[in-house]
Amino acid sequence: MGIKAAGIVGKDASGIVTSLRKAYCDEWFAYYQYWVGARVIRGPSRAAAIKELVEHAEDELRHADMLAKRIIQLGGALVLKPEDWYAHAACGYAPPEDPFVRAVLAQNLTAERCAIGVYDGLIREVGGKDAATCDIITEILQDELEHEEDIEGLLYDLDALMKKG
Ligand SMILES: [Fe+2]
Ligand SMILES: [Fe+2]
Repeated sequence: MGIKAAGIVGKDASGIVTSLRKAYCDEWFAYYQYWVGARVIRGPSRAAAIKELVEHAEDELRHADMLAKRIIQLGGALVLKPEDWYAHAACGYAPPEDPFVRAVLAQNLTAERCAIGVYDGLIREVGGKDAATCDIITEILQDELEHEEDIEGLLYDLDALMKKG
């Protein structure tokens, strides 16, 4: 733990750590949701979707890493057991049981919109209290906003393709 890091944040540190731990669990779910989605997805525009899903998976894993480092700096503990992720996560995990491209992308879109809401709320929570965490969350939020647009674009292209066919 960073003594000075936690000292700057003071009495707010434990509440901020609780929120970061929730986001950390959601990032692992998001990572796996994209990773497994890229393996099972079927249907038109499959190659374009896989490329995007793999990129997003890498981003979500990087987000988990960024959050882990900050949690530890603030003196918090990581959620060590995957089975505990469900209890903490705000957005959760939706297994891609229907592998059709539209169904997989729709699940991803729901998850991204949930993540955007979570990070927007977190920025309000930490704003004025913890500048370092605010920077990290803002950077993650930018990625989630891009992810939402990417998925919307893929769905738009899919609709156009299916109308043509
Ligand atoms: Fe993320
Ligand atoms: Fe994302």
